[in-house]
Amino acid sequence: MVFARIAQAAAYAPEQVITNDDLSEIMDTSDEWISSRTGIRRRHITRDETTSDLGTQVVKQLLSKAGLSAVDIDFIIVATITPDSLMPSTAARIQGNIGAVNAFAMDVTAACSGFVFALSTADKFIQSGIYKRGIVIGAETLSKTLDWSDRSTSVLFGDGAGGVLLEATETKHFLAESLNTDGSRGLSLTSAKVGLSSPFSEKEEDDKFLKMDGRAIFDFAIRDVAKSIKALIETSEVSAEDLDYLLLHQANIRILDKVARKMSIDRDKFLANIMEYGNTSAASIPILLSESVGKGLIKLDGSQTILLSGFGGGLTWGSLIVKI
Ligand code: ACO
Repeated sequence: MVFARIAQAAAYAPEQVITNDDLSEIMDTSDEWISSRTGIRRRHITRDETTSDLGTQVVKQLLSKAGLSAVDIDFIIVATITPDSLMPSTAARIQGNIGAVNAFAMDVTAACSGFVFALSTADKFIQSGIYKRGIVIGAETLSKTLDWSDRSTSVLFGDGAGGVLLEATETKHFLAESLNTDGSRGLSLTSAKVGLSSPFSEKEEDDKFLKMDGRAIFDFAIRDVAKSIKALIETSEVSAEDLDYLLLHQANIRILDKVARKMSIDRDKFLANIMEYGNTSAASIPILLSESVGKGLIKLDGSQTILLSGFGGGLTWGSLIVKI
């Protein structure tokens, strides 16, 4: 049997940092409101780098850490809701940038669950035995989809990218998973609508901006996500005590607090960096993973067990339990 394991993790964020005080100079908000409601203090916002530029930096770091060259990679999957364009995909742009001539490349669209959905997909490609090495990236430039005159959404998000190198191995590392979608609730979180416009159709308005029913999404995260993580742990061979860390999508520090309390799991096991990045959608989990490896909290030597959980637009939610 062939299995996949996470061999390396890397992250990259644009250099420009925008603080809550910076935002209060251009809109009616305050550091006090933003940090007390969300935990966010800063976010990185791109000046001129695109989503594929951020992802390319992550892939270069992964290759250098692993001592590999671009031709050694069999596939590149990018999770994003802010692609440079739908065609070519962000993954194809990155593949071209680095010259990964042996890799196929494609994007996955599952909003803030995107990295988890893409990682689960990549695990199956490796398990097929056809592909030996792949890269999974979460990369976003959400700043381009925000209505900067809407304080209720624009203060929440940031730009960045993170990713992992997956390699084939003989032991099982992806221990359990649960991927979910409820499209009937999808309109509570929308972005980048392209309306019908042909001479043969009724006309529809485009709507590029991200719109969110914050309260509905908050309740969804507390109720459905906590329930789904709990069910996954109960049906897996891993107990809550076996989990070294839980890396949830970084949407709001209060969501982490409430999920931890609801599940009776030590809050210290829930890693967080939303303070520094805001909500970076598909990029939030791999950025957090990479930083945690950098700090020595996560070792990538197969000795720990972690849970990754994304939730957001679609609505989508999904979790993976991974030996890492
Ligand atoms: N600064 C100051 N005041 C503000 C701001 C701001 N930036 N934004 C909103 N307010 C005001 C509102 O106008 C409102 O004022 P009012 O009472 O006079 O009408 C008041 O603050 C309260 O607003 P609420 O929206 O009720 O605030 P709430 O406590 O619900 O917090 C928040 C809002 C932070 C968005 C929260 O609902 C949340 O975190 N939701 C979840 C978001 C999430 O999880 N997203 C994940 C998915 S994202 C993805 O998939 C791309």
